[in-house]
Amino acid sequence: MSAADIAVTDRPGFPPVLLDIRDLSVEYAGESAAVTAVDRVSLQVGRGEFLGIVGESGCGKSTLLFAIARLLQPPAEIVGGDVVFKGQNLIHMREKQLRHLRWRDYSVVMQSAMNALNPVMTIGGQLKDAMKAHGRVSRRDARLRGASVLQLVGIDPVHLDSFPHQLSGGMRQRAMIAMALVFTPDLIIMDEPTSALDVVAQRSLMVQIKQLQSEFGFTVIFVTHDMALVGRYSDRLAIMYAGQIVELDTTRAIFKDPKHPYTQGLLAAYPSVHGPKQELKGIPGRPPDLRFPPSGCRFHPRCPHVMNVCPQEEPDLYAPRGTDLVRCFLYDRRVMNDRHLSQPLRSEP
Ligand SMILES: Nc1ncnc2c1ncn2[C@@H]1O[C@H](COP(=O)(O)OP(=O)(O)OP(=O)(O)O)[C@@H](O)[C@H]1O
Ligand code: SF4
Ligand SMILES: [Mg+2]
Repeated sequence: MSAADIAVTDRPGFPPVLLDIRDLSVEYAGESAAVTAVDRVSLQVGRGEFLGIVGESGCGKSTLLFAIARLLQPPAEIVGGDVVFKGQNLIHMREKQLRHLRWRDYSVVMQSAMNALNPVMTIGGQLKDAMKAHGRVSRRDARLRGASVLQLVGIDPVHLDSFPHQLSGGMRQRAMIAMALVFTPDLIIMDEPTSALDVVAQRSLMVQIKQLQSEFGFTVIFVTHDMALVGRYSDRLAIMYAGQIVELDTTRAIFKDPKHPYTQGLLAAYPSVHGPKQELKGIPGRPPDLRFPPSGCRFHPRCPHVMNVCPQEEPDLYAPRGTDLVRCFLYDRRVMNDRHLSQPLRSEP
């Protein structure tokens, strides 16, 4: 099938849609059973928006980003859904067509710059390679453009001749962002770009990303564990749990009045829920092993508000505030009006 143009409907009161993710599912093939790491995720991201994606380790954040960017490798496989970017469905594109769009129309900043940068190539050489992916570029032009993007992210252009190990962690992350900016794309996807940095370097990088965003108007999708970070810098938040989006709304609304019990738990663990799988303050237990997801609502074994219906049926997405989406039966009138279905399964929330 070709990458046919697809009509996208804008949301009233929001910026025009740049990226429309529809029912996207990703599986990792396993020896016994496949693991569904991204489960029917739907999400629209507007031009110039800063969308944060938050959730505990292993909930599928990186898998979702890699699926959007079409960078997944086996055993991961997109098993359903569409990713419509600027009206074109990336899902049906061949690698050659995708190479045309990467860097120029969208770019990706990985979790660890040390792994993403080539250790035996200078920063200038790597910037030039990114430019060459989109046509011939003279040595002089590559150096000029390389110097200007390095300056944009606050790196002295003398470092065009530096190797990655000669830069600090913060500078390497900045160099990755410089590379992502070479063609000032419409969308920059960032997977925990600041997680290896200390708090001061983290904040200064975030401020810089925001400044560049307001200057160039690109859209950012930003994955993190850190509620404090996205709370400060994102326009909207998608909260992920066990491969699914469980809450989606403006950052302001979520911080003011989190609706999903998991989001409430994340905010109780605020300012951050760094690191490997760990217990959240206020939420007992750990995220499920996605090979064996819990029945019904995936959060039910940990939920302080679990009801009779929760282990039996899977909640839909509801819109209690009108604009938001929350995957929880507490916002389903049918359930809440039924004394049996809404019977609490725990005595104390
Ligand atoms: N190579 C793999 N093979 C099989 N399953 C995998 C593989 N990588 C990830 N998974 C499964 O996909 C799930 C989601 O992984 P993913 O890396 O997307 O999570 P994440 O939210 O980015 O976690 P983190 O915050 O630790 O980066 C994991 O819980 C795991 O079950
Ligand atoms: S559906 Fe039930 S178990 Fe799931 S979050 Fe809502 S109340 Fe908790
Ligand atoms: Mg990850």
